[in-house]
Amino acid sequence: MCGIFAYLNYLTPKTQQEILDFLITGLKRLEYRGYDSAGVGVDGCDTNAHIELIRQQGPVDLLKEKIEGMKESLQFDQVRDVHVGIAHTRWATHGVPSEVNSHPQTSDDTNKFIVVHNGIITNHDAIKTFLKTKGYKFISETDTEVIAKLIHHVHEQNPNVNFRELVEKAIRQLEGAFACCFKSSVFPGECVAARRGSPLLVAIKSQFELNADYVPVQYSAEDPNQNMKFHSHGTESPVVQRKKSTAFRVDSGKGSTSQISPCNPGDPVEYFFSSDASAVVERTNRVIYLEDDDVAAVKKGVLSIHRISRSLDDEPNETVLREILKLTTEIQEIMKGSYSSFMQKEIFEQPESVVNTMRGRICQQTKVVTLGGIKDFIPEISRCRRLMLLGCGTSYHSALASRQLLEELTELPVMVELASDFLDRYTPIFRDDVCFFISQSGETADTLNALRYCKKRGALIVGVTNTVGSSISRETHCGIHINAGPEIGVASTKAYTSQILSLAMFGLVMARDRISAQKRCTEIINELGRLPELIQKVLQQDQKILEIAKKLYEKRSLLIMGRGYNFATCLEGALKVKELTYMHSEGIQSGELKHGPLALVDSTVPIVMIITRDQVYEKCLNALAQVIARGGNPVLICQEGDKEILARAKDDMFIEVPASVDALQSILTVIPFQLLSYHLAVLRGCNVDCPRNLAKSVTVE
Ligand code: F6R
Repeated sequence: MCGIFAYLNYLTPKTQQEILDFLITGLKRLEYRGYDSAGVGVDGCDTNAHIELIRQQGPVDLLKEKIEGMKESLQFDQVRDVHVGIAHTRWATHGVPSEVNSHPQTSDDTNKFIVVHNGIITNHDAIKTFLKTKGYKFISETDTEVIAKLIHHVHEQNPNVNFRELVEKAIRQLEGAFACCFKSSVFPGECVAARRGSPLLVAIKSQFELNADYVPVQYSAEDPNQNMKFHSHGTESPVVQRKKSTAFRVDSGKGSTSQISPCNPGDPVEYFFSSDASAVVERTNRVIYLEDDDVAAVKKGVLSIHRISRSLDDEPNETVLREILKLTTEIQEIMKGSYSSFMQKEIFEQPESVVNTMRGRICQQTKVVTLGGIKDFIPEISRCRRLMLLGCGTSYHSALASRQLLEELTELPVMVELASDFLDRYTPIFRDDVCFFISQSGETADTLNALRYCKKRGALIVGVTNTVGSSISRETHCGIHINAGPEIGVASTKAYTSQILSLAMFGLVMARDRISAQKRCTEIINELGRLPELIQKVLQQDQKILEIAKKLYEKRSLLIMGRGYNFATCLEGALKVKELTYMHSEGIQSGELKHGPLALVDSTVPIVMIITRDQVYEKCLNALAQVIARGGNPVLICQEGDKEILARAKDDMFIEVPASVDALQSILTVIPFQLLSYHLAVLRGCNVDCPRNLAKSVTVE
């Protein structure tokens, strides 16, 4: 949801055109986070003390075309020793997609301060009202414009204060979630970035070895002059302290050693600020994930990180460090290769992504499963009152898909909650609850807020994420990285199968010492060994699924029915169809048919039914009979060679998936829906990777 990218070169001469190319390439990588409009702010061609803003409604390619058209007039071929460029790709929340609402937003006609922002400023109205009394005029509908004008006002009030401190003074006034990057014509060659609630990282590229693996964090003094107060803080109950697993969480590094700056003053260096690592992997692999309330500033090529408040996890007198991590993502992982879209690539990657999820965790010889990120917490989890699984969208569906197996293997009550609904209800949470937060991005605001709610009430917090260094992986006590690799298509595919797999492995770990569960565990572990090959077999049905899509793509609606382990597949399949094709689609629990949905069934409505040989097979056959009796002509998804089902399929409208153990079958039955929705979207002329109105990583509520 909105992508921020900024670049600063220090004593590494570049033409402006090269810098613009960096910014555009960075934005292209982040485009999956939002594609309503894009913009850049760079030093003008005449002098660093003038900022050129170029913004455009629509995808990044349109911005690129606009910049190309301006080449002649703006002379972008001058070499600069030091340069700061900030860039943004927007997913509209406040204000329609338009050029004037695009970022960077500016403080005034001369662009003294410009800012790019991801998140929502909840007290923007109050700040706007105040600034209007000071004569500021607002031209956009965005909440971001108040940040640009606020820092301008703070500068007018404090003309001798440096750039970083101005940013600190301004962001102390902000409520809500933000990641911001600032550039100023008053402070040429400097860039300041800050975050609270939205992700942001700093990447460092130097031809020299870095001096340190950590950057020390300094605490900024409280602002004695906080004369502008736009917020009201409620009282907060103390957070229960627990020892954290460093095997899961990115250690923010605490120690007493004094650290030096990673680069010597005067060394040539390049810095990047980015919403996520995908935009920097082709430039460097050294990154620092900023934490909430961090303010990172680069001045004369030197990076400093300050904090505007002490975190509840920080011990007094302890040196807090931000670790410079080495990224392991390779550039090929974030390229489409020969596929037509990221989504298609990610669907076809699943035979490998499930291997990566299981790598080093399952021993087929001993039938032992080990999850390093939670192993120290297993005794505590075994004693808990209940397990709660929380997530949104596809991640929520993965929780639903896993509930039955977890109930069986853990013998604990398992509740599954939509994180977006959970906080609307003041749900009671206890110290002996174990709450799992499932999130591909690790940044979803609803999930993160639910996490904080449960953490405050003392529950053990477990993360299941695909993004190392994400907010959820940092704020949990322990967890499982699903290791599916970067997922760039807005519609989640490979993350879903890896989430189910990770939760299944958790169940297996929990059942390890139960003799009565050994047979079942061995059966599942054996099937996990075959999973890549079984997924491959489903993918081989692609052509057949395309033929079915050709028969369905002009329809208005698609009902998807199933029950038991396959019910989550129905919901997930319907979500994929909705978000990619804009057709109406509904996942229906077949047991509920008679309680209402059967009224939808006639000979015209397209239906897909999933029927696999498990304990609800007979019930599913009943549902099929009911649908056929009402004139329905469903596409049937069944296990290979199931004659009973195949005999009922008309006009080749069936998809066979290999049979597996019931608990893993949903990993196989969901893939036909990923392929079906992909083909339906292509046939309907929809943009597969960038569905309308959506963005990946929803960092606002
Ligand atoms: C649908 C989809 C979304 C996400 C949801 C949660 O294809 O991708 O429904 O699953 O926004 O996102 P994460 O998993 O990043 O928390």
